[in-house]
Parts: sequence; structure tokens; C-alpha cells
Amino acid sequence: MNRKEFLKLVGAGAAFAVTVTCLGGCTNDHGDIFPDDIGLNPDPITGAFLTIDVSNEASSALKNNGGYLIKNKIVVARDLSGNYVAATVRCSHEPRDKIIFRNNEFYCREHSARFNTSGRGLNSKGSSNLKVYKTSLNGNILSVIA
Ligand code: FES
Repeated sequence: MNRKEFLKLVGAGAAFAVTVTCLGGCTNDHGDIFPDDIGLNPDPITGAFLTIDVSNEASSALKNNGGYLIKNKIVVARDLSGNYVAATVRCSHEPRDKIIFRNNEFYCREHSARFNTSGRGLNSKGSSNLKVYKTSLNGNILSVIA
């Protein structure tokens, strides 16, 4: 079905309503963004959206406190206490994939939103908080779970 056929079928008003509804990004009523919203699917057995072998050279950024990497649109970091923390790369201020980890906080490179490691916003741009994920370490395998 092409655009013209679609508009005939549902009417221009309905198409406008659908378009306006989705322009702001697809989140729930609280503004949370879930991994499946950004194209991630959990492992059907473990429920993990992401697993990382922390002994692997590719994850060497996680060997030091304060280091981080971004994989599958998830920012995975090792905080200054040595705990693994994870959050969506997508900012809650505007749907931009600009979150990194710096100074023991999640930080957006677009307009400088700041969030603590629990996802709580630390300035006005971060007032909608950030979706963070649970992590668990089993041997060298770090799992990120929604
Ligand atoms: S998009 Fe992240 S602070 Fe604006």
C-alpha cells in the first residue's frame, strides 16, 4: 500500500494524528525508553539484552574504574567504586543517542544533561531521568538486564 492509498483508507485526519503521536519518540507515559524501543531483544533464556566478556580485549575500557563502552545502544560503565552500571544511550531530554559516561555520571553530549548512576537527573536537561539497566557479573560475563 502506498502513501496515497493509505491516506484514502484512513483519512488524512487519522494519518495526522498517528504522525503527531510518534514524532516525539516512542516511550511510555513516564518517558522511559526500553531496549526493545531501540531495537534490542532479550536473550530468551537469560533475559539479558547484552552480555560482555570483561576479560576480552574488546572490553578493555571496563578494566579501569571510570571506563565505559557503548554496545548495542547501551552505555556500560565501571563506576569509580568498581561497580558495573548501564544505561540507554538515548537521552530523555530529546531522543538523541548521545549519552556517555564521565565523572562518574551519565552525560549527554548534545545539551549536557547529567544523570547519576541510578538514572536520576542532576540538572534541568536531565529532569526526565534516564533509563538504567541492572547488571550482573558471572565469572567474566557481564549481563545487562532490563
Ligand atoms: S538531547 Fe540530551 S541533553 Fe538534550
